[in-house]
Amino acid sequence: MSSSSALLPVPAHVAIIMDGNGRWAKRRGLPRLEGHRRGVESVRAVVDAARALGIRCITLYAFSVENWRRPEDEVGGLMVLLETFLAKEKANLLKNRVRLRAIGRIAALPSRARAALEDVMSATAHFTEHTLVLALNYGARTEVLDAARAFAVEVAAGRARPEDADTWEGFSRHLYTADLPDPDLVIRTSGETRLSNFLLVQSAYAEFVFTPVLWPDFGARELEAAVDDYRRRERRYGLTGEQVSRPGPVAAREPAPSVI
Ligand code: FPP
Repeated sequence: MSSSSALLPVPAHVAIIMDGNGRWAKRRGLPRLEGHRRGVESVRAVVDAARALGIRCITLYAFSVENWRRPEDEVGGLMVLLETFLAKEKANLLKNRVRLRAIGRIAALPSRARAALEDVMSATAHFTEHTLVLALNYGARTEVLDAARAFAVEVAAGRARPEDADTWEGFSRHLYTADLPDPDLVIRTSGETRLSNFLLVQSAYAEFVFTPVLWPDFGARELEAAVDDYRRRERRYGLTGEQVSRPGPVAAREPAPSVI
């Protein structure tokens, strides 16, 4: 909680771990996939609500590198849901001028889902005001491995120097998220309090909201409540509370890339 009464601005980037679809379905005696179907409705509602609140970027953890180990019909069903979501949502994203981005090992997605994704990403690539990021076949550790490999390739080709990795700014340009701001607020639904390999390095200075609400029950009102909670926080970035509340030469802001 902030010691001053000033509210933080609306977060520029909200990242969400959408959890609880299976439990939502189980409580109703429905198949797990029905929970995911209702989860897609929440995705629609939350993307619209985020835009209305002035949140410029929203990242949704839709499928992790670990999720492939779920039952085959659930994995297949999720991929079909992704395809139909993209087909239905394309017009809405175009109308609302929302850019679609994806992070993760996208090349390993089934070809139909990948084609749908690439179609909507290229149709919306020119929008700059709002971004919807889908984390698909995503894992934070895999992302770091991919970044390290990409960096090594650049060094081997003479396009980068080892000392470029002395700063976070120099290395982080190889992450999937190079063109995105770090998340200000990370939300996880369903009462679990884990990060589950999601945006681990980008969340270094993020604020967290854990809510018991299951993802299919999460909508505009719940997003607004999480944002209100966030806006009452004090972000210190390693400084003291006094430094943050007293205007002075050291402003509380995200640290320079090499500062720890
Ligand atoms: C976690 O709930 C949810 C997922 C692994 C998938 C999230 C996917 C969607 C919301 C739908 C597809 C998304 C898009 C963008 C079209 P869980 O199944 O682990 O729930 P549980 O912990 O209650 O079993």
